[in-house]
Amino acid sequence: MTAAPCGGPLPDPRAHPDKDAALVQAMFDRVAPRYDLVNTVLSAGRDAHWRRVAARAAAVAPGRVALDVATGTGKVAQELARAGAHVCALDFSVAMLATGQRRDGVPASVRWCAGDGTRLPLEDASVDAVTIGFGLRNLADLDAALVEFARVARPGARLVILEFSQPPRAALRRGYHALLRAAVPRVARAVASDPRAYTYLAESIAAWPDATELADRVAAAGWARVGVKRLAAGAVAVHRAVRPAKSPPRMQS
Ligand SMILES: C[S@@+](CC[C@H](N)C(=O)[O-])C[C@H]1O[C@@H](n2cnc3c(N)ncnc32)[C@H](O)[C@@H]1O
Repeated sequence: MTAAPCGGPLPDPRAHPDKDAALVQAMFDRVAPRYDLVNTVLSAGRDAHWRRVAARAAAVAPGRVALDVATGTGKVAQELARAGAHVCALDFSVAMLATGQRRDGVPASVRWCAGDGTRLPLEDASVDAVTIGFGLRNLADLDAALVEFARVARPGARLVILEFSQPPRAALRRGYHALLRAAVPRVARAVASDPRAYTYLAESIAAWPDATELADRVAAAGWARVGVKRLAAGAVAVHRAVRPAKSPPRMQS
């Protein structure tokens, strides 16, 4: 598998229904070879902890089925599998999936699936947990995606969203965004396989809703018992919710 050469147009950083999914896919194909390394450098190694927190929040029992949407190189999927779940690790970037498949130590209970997270190739009420790590920000229509996740979740299934967020303190928030604009491009130039893609990262984080607004949107999509755990002074958040037994969620038209 070879990645596309560097460059190419970047997608709209906002989660917006007009966002061009083909540009998102091409961008992740370009960053795939060094994606894991850049994450480790940018987060000073904290990303592994955040993914473990997210996998624990999914609380999926051994032998049950978890779907990790926008799995990328499958780091969240790997944590779920280590807890005993059978995992469908789904992504539409074949280069990201291929990079994950080559990594040592991925349990055999991870099944790699090429597919679109907004039109899941799964039956209604077929999985016991849905997770998405740093992926929701990249989908065009996040509200429709949350409804689609509820469609495939069994009653009682957990939804876990691990995503960048906005630190609640204004001073911290300003400092954080200044740091993102200054440091991310520098680090990306030194380490990434497509440094320009990391401009998109900084802009998409700035355009992303805060944790309270995202919680409201999760609830509006038909999920119950929505909770939030803030990490890294609020720069990262884990949203957790449960698919209710009754009152099925709205379906996509
Ligand atoms: C920032 S990466 C996150 C990867 C991984 N979950 C992690 O924790 O590092 C975002 C991933 O979302 C995927 N993605 C974006 N839109 C998608 C869609 N509509 N369907 C499937 N995957 C999508 C990209 O290909 C990319 O691998």
